Amino acid sequence: MADTITKLSYETLQKGKSYLSFAHKTLSMQVRKALKPNNLPAWPVPPELIAKLQKRSADLQVTDWQDAERGVYPTDLLFDEPWLDYLAQYPAMVIDMPSIWQRSDNKKYQEFSKGIETEGYPSYYVQNFHHQTDGYLSDWSASLYDFQVEILFGGTADAMRRRILAPLKQSLQAFSNLPAKQIKILDAACGTARTLRGVRSMLPQASLFGVDLSGAYLRKASEQLADLPGDLVQLMQGNVEELPYMDNYFHAVTCVFLFHELPEAVRQKAIEEYFRVLKPGGTLIICDSIQMSDSPEFEMMMHAFYETFHEPYYRSYMEDDLVAKLHQAGFAEVLPTEVHFMSKYLVAKKAA
Ligand SMILES: C[S@@+](CC[C@H](N)C(=O)[O-])C[C@H]1O[C@@H](n2cnc3c(N)ncnc32)[C@H](O)[C@@H]1O
Repeated sequence: MADTITKLSYETLQKGKSYLSFAHKTLSMQVRKALKPNNLPAWPVPPELIAKLQKRSADLQVTDWQDAERGVYPTDLLFDEPWLDYLAQYPAMVIDMPSIWQRSDNKKYQEFSKGIETEGYPSYYVQNFHHQTDGYLSDWSASLYDFQVEILFGGTADAMRRRILAPLKQSLQAFSNLPAKQIKILDAACGTARTLRGVRSMLPQASLFGVDLSGAYLRKASEQLADLPGDLVQLMQGNVEELPYMDNYFHAVTCVFLFHELPEAVRQKAIEEYFRVLKPGGTLIICDSIQMSDSPEFEMMMHAFYETFHEPYYRSYMEDDLVAKLHQAGFAEVLPTEVHFMSKYLVAKKAA
């Protein structure tokens, strides 16, 4: 009985998020149309693709529930989202929209607020990804990011992030002789720590680490991790091209939604760094956008994505052979790729 109620609550929550996202997208499109009728991005999605998307989204929800039900992670995690905070941020997000449209219309891709320090970052990073205000370089951007991503994915962003949890738990069986506290896991490009919250909920005792280039996103991450029980998650500012950790240090490395935002050569470097910091027998789990190799039927949406959302490296990402890159870096085994809704999952093992 309790399970049925929890399941119904979860399904209702997911539906609510999806309606809310749809309402927001429709409303913002109408406002934009009224303000600039001739300047709308035109990528109408054919009905058969919409049906496929809806099917994938429904499948994701089923898998998310099933993983909780079979105890991969606590069912509480399905409800772990700061929706009251998001609603409180809604006015700020609306206020931000005209500047996003302006940057998009005027093709301003490297525009930052006064006082934002852009020096010292790799040039590929100093961008208004998704046309977002200040790219990844301000507290304002960090405060709106999670909500914006949830809206973009119709309320499924966390459900996609959670798909790394089952393979992560499975991979740690290789180290089942160790006390839970000695297990070290790195989330690379951790952003505001949505993934780390999920990992902490599943593995309350493991030693968790997060690294990201953005000081502002790390500040937000630290806030979002503050209420969790267990040892402090160790956050560090750093570049995935040159990770600030020793060789053979982690039992697992996760990386969510980063690779589509890196130039091709940097993707290879990052994978090589993940290989270096993993212990023998350790596992790398990547979650990122779908690609042509696994989802050719969504080609049109992939083109629409980089055109509409300023994703300068996505075009090359779409066709990139990540499995080849993993082998080139030295990973002995790459498991068959999984796809969930708009994301894909690569699990690669370093030989023991
Ligand atoms: C699309 S966000 C994903 C964040 C987070 N993993 C999530 O699931 O929300 C990309 C993140 O990668 C970080 N990033 C981009 N390039 C990086 C690099 N070379 N080294 C470290 N972090 C990087 C950004 O600062 C940002 O937080």
